[in-house]
Amino acid sequence: MRRAIYPGSFDPVTNGHLDIIQRGCKLFDEIIVAILINPDKTPFFSVAERGEILADVLKDIERGGCNVVVESFAGLLVQYAAERQANAIVRGIRAISDYEYELQMALMNRRLEPTIETVFMMPAETYSYVSSRLVKEVFQLGGSIEGLVPPVVEQRMREKK
Ligand code: PNS
Repeated sequence: MRRAIYPGSFDPVTNGHLDIIQRGCKLFDEIIVAILINPDKTPFFSVAERGEILADVLKDIERGGCNVVVESFAGLLVQYAAERQANAIVRGIRAISDYEYELQMALMNRRLEPTIETVFMMPAETYSYVSSRLVKEVFQLGGSIEGLVPPVVEQRMREKK
């Protein structure tokens, strides 16, 4: 049983995140999508709302035989991953600019917990410029985010405005 943790803020989940989860499903039997509880940040959606939205949109994706679950965690990622007996941490890499930060985290995580591997996955090129931060910025400034996030995310964002 190969279990991976896919950690992140998911504020909000984008089509890029879903693309990575679908690709991860080809490699792992179970993926735990783990939302970071970060008291230092003021999010657009609360952790509970992000969890609800994720559970909702994950119902519609192609998963094969992979079990996808949504959880939240606080504290050290590797500690949480070890508690869940995960084999790997999945992170999406869009461009070289992501790589430097992701490499630092992967190596730090390896130092802290050598039994857990970090697996970098590339989303479809279509999503290579999509980030939660830009989605929020474009939305808040009145631009269209259609095609960048699942329709339910756009709907929930409109309701929050
Ligand atoms: O979606 P994000 O915000 O890029 O995700 C970042 C995340 C959640 C992967 C990272 O901030 C994290 O792992 N935080 C947990 C605290 C931790 O373990 N810090 C040490 C990382 S080397």
